[in-house]
Amino acid sequence: MDTVLSGIRSTGNLHLGNYYGALRNFTRMQFENNCFFFIADYHSLTTHPDPSILHGNVKNVLTEYLAAGIDPEVSTIYIQSDVPEVCELYLLLNMHAYLGELSKTVSFKEKARKNPDNVNAGLLTYPTLMAADILLHNADKVRVGKDQEQHLEMTRKFARRFNNIYGVEFFNEPVAYNFGQELIKIPGLDGSGKMGKSEGNCVYLKDTPKEIEKKVKRALTDEGPKEFDSVKPDYIENLFTILKVVSTPEVVAHFDEKWNKCEIRYGDLKKQLAEDIIKATDPIRSRITDIENDDTYLRKVTKEGAEKARESAAKTLRQVREIMGFKTF
Ligand code: TYM
Repeated sequence: MDTVLSGIRSTGNLHLGNYYGALRNFTRMQFENNCFFFIADYHSLTTHPDPSILHGNVKNVLTEYLAAGIDPEVSTIYIQSDVPEVCELYLLLNMHAYLGELSKTVSFKEKARKNPDNVNAGLLTYPTLMAADILLHNADKVRVGKDQEQHLEMTRKFARRFNNIYGVEFFNEPVAYNFGQELIKIPGLDGSGKMGKSEGNCVYLKDTPKEIEKKVKRALTDEGPKEFDSVKPDYIENLFTILKVVSTPEVVAHFDEKWNKCEIRYGDLKKQLAEDIIKATDPIRSRITDIENDDTYLRKVTKEGAEKARESAAKTLRQVREIMGFKTF
C-alpha cells in the first residue's frame, strides 16, 4: 500500500482549484492507500496572519476537508502544528538546503517580487518545510495540483541528497500525483491562469448557488469567434477547462461544436457551467454547516489525527537521527 499525502495551507476557504487539484476522487484513494491529509498552518505564517483569525482559518480547512468526504476512520487527518516532529525534520533538512536553490524557486521569486518588504526566512525555506511534511511520513505520492510540481521536484532532490550524503536508501523520492490523471490547474474566472486565494478569483466550495451564478456570469468573455474552428483565447479556454472537470464529455462536446461553428452563446455556456459547478459542490456545501457547528467532533478528529500522525512522524525521526549520528548516553 502506498503512502499518499495531501496538504492545504490554512489561508481561507477551499476553492474549486483545491478540490480538483488535491482532493477529487479521494474516496477511492483513501481505501487503496495509506492517506494523510493535513492542514499547513505553519506555512500560512509567512504572510503574518492576525492571531485572531489563525484558528478560524484552520477550522475552515478542517471542516471543508471533512465535508468533502475524507473519512477520519480510514485516513489520517491532522493539523501541521499538532505534530512538532515536522519542525525538527525541517531544521535537519535545512542544513542541506542551499540559498542558491531556494532563492531560485518560482513561488519564492514571485512572492518576493509582490511583497518586497516581507522576504522572510520562512518564505525562503518554504520548500524545505514542505519537504519535511512529505518526508515525515516517507510518502510515495503527493496529491497536488500543477502549481506544486516544482516543490515536489525539490523534495525529491532533498531526499536524494540526504540518501547520498549518509550513504543510505532511506527516503523515497515522492512523486506528484493525481489519481492516475494529469496534474491539473484550475484557472480563474477572471481570465487569469490560476484560481487562487491570493488572486481573488475563486469559486469557493462554501459559496451559495446564487454566489456561484453571479461569479460565473461575471467571467470574462467577448463577442464570440469570427471564423470557424478558431483557436480559443485563454479566457474562453479557461471556461472550457472548468467545464471539463464539472460537466459530462457530451456537454463539453456540445459547446465545443457550437464554438467551432461560431454559434456559441456565452449566456448558455455560463448557465450550464454554473449549474454544473453547483451540482458538483452541492453535497459538500450542505455538509459544511453541520460539521462546523460540531466542535466535539472536530476536537475528536484532530486529537486522533495528531496521535496517528505523530506516531508515523516519530518513527521516521528516530531513524533520521540515528542515520545522522545522534546518540543517547
Ligand atoms: P495551497 O494551499 O495553495 O493549495 C492546496 C492544494 O490545492 C492545489 N491547488 C490547485 N490545483 C489546481 N488548480 C488550482 N488553481 C489550484 N490551486 C491550488 C495545490 O496544488 C495544492 O495541492 N504549499 C502547499 C501546501 C503544502 C503541501 C505540503 C501540499 C504544504 N506542505 C506538502 C502537499 C504536500 C500550498 O500552498 O497549497
